[in-house]
Amino acid sequence: MGGLVKVALVSDLAPGQGKTVERRGVAMALFNVDGTFRAIGNACCHHGGPLAEGELTGTIVTCPWHGWRFDVVTGSTLRNAEIGVPTYRVEVRGDEVFVELP
Ligand code: FES
Repeated sequence: MGGLVKVALVSDLAPGQGKTVERRGVAMALFNVDGTFRAIGNACCHHGGPLAEGELTGTIVTCPWHGWRFDVVTGSTLRNAEIGVPTYRVEVRGDEVFVELP
């Protein structure tokens, strides 16, 4: 039951902002990275902190709980590229933002 699901409007997130979205039981952190939208799993792989609430600097989000840093393009932590959270393909159509769920 994959496919594209609408998660937001482009105007919902200013550049540098993140937002938690949940669709079909999948919690994602959606970010506006200087006009390009990115989506990763919302639950930090350390202890489940909400990555959408972390501070975004460029493509790097810092978990608000203990400071692990993730690249929102790859989902990987900066410390170890083999550890990370899922990434989801994002598509913008007009003023609507869609994420492809597996
Ligand atoms: S829960 Fe994210 S760094 Fe600990």
